[in-house]
Amino acid sequence: MYDAGKVILGVVLFLAILLFPVWYNLAKGQTDAEPELAEPVKGETCVAPTDYMRSNHMDLLDDWRDRVVRDGERIYVDFTGNKHEMSLSNTCLDCHADKAKFCDECHTFMAVEPYCWDCHIIPEATTAGEVTHGT
Ligand code: HEC
Ligand code: HEC
Ligand code: HEC
Repeated sequence: MYDAGKVILGVVLFLAILLFPVWYNLAKGQTDAEPELAEPVKGETCVAPTDYMRSNHMDLLDDWRDRVVRDGERIYVDFTGNKHEMSLSNTCLDCHADKAKFCDECHTFMAVEPYCWDCHIIPEATTAGEVTHGT
């Protein structure tokens, strides 16, 4: 007698190996594509090094919120010594003025949906979609 479970497992493995090039290319195609992010409208550097910001901006925002709400602090001194108001709308979106083509662009790509904007205001310029960069 053979074990039906093992036969099915064998068939599944066989198909997985057979189809490897197909799903490998699908997955690779997805990581190759990068969202196109709008340039910040001001600032030489972010409030922390870019690499850190890319992967940890949510932690920094949490820290800002706690410091403002719990400790009543308002000013953040960044790694270059520049001072910033610890504010999601007034500070992050002051430089990253095109929220749709920066924050949203990447979040949609990564399938994340921060709920912050239920309460926090999106400054006018960013919703009008008329922000122009460069020149
Ligand atoms: C239910 C409403 C609500 C939601 C949702 C919310 N916040 Fe807030 N947040 C507040 C309030 C109220 C304050 C206090 C405002 C103050 O004292 O200036 C605050 C303050 C902050 C501050 C510091 C001050 C400022 O103006 O930015 C940060 C940073 C912050 N929140 C980040 C976030 C982030 C990030 C999210 C989403 C992950 C979020 N908040 C979601 C209500 C909210
Ligand atoms: C003084 C202007 C300024 C402020 C304020 C600012 N940023 Fe930045 N941000 C920049 C610059 C400049 C870069 C680097 C862009 C680059 O290297 O192409 C950057 C990079 C980033 C990146 C990485 C983007 C990428 O290319 O992967 C993220 C994410 C980010 N910022 C989020 C934030 C958040 C969240 C806040 C508020 C806590 C914030 N920034 C505040 C100017 C600013
Ligand atoms: C380069 C891509 C990228 C950019 C640009 C970006 N984010 Fe994010 N953001 C992410 C990723 C990825 C996550 C989810 C991280 C995780 O779940 O660990 C995230 C998560 C967050 C969270 C936490 C959401 C939650 O529910 O936990 C907040 C708040 C946030 N981003 C705010 C911003 C703001 C504000 C901007 C624009 C100033 C911004 N992000 C720009 C990639 C980006």
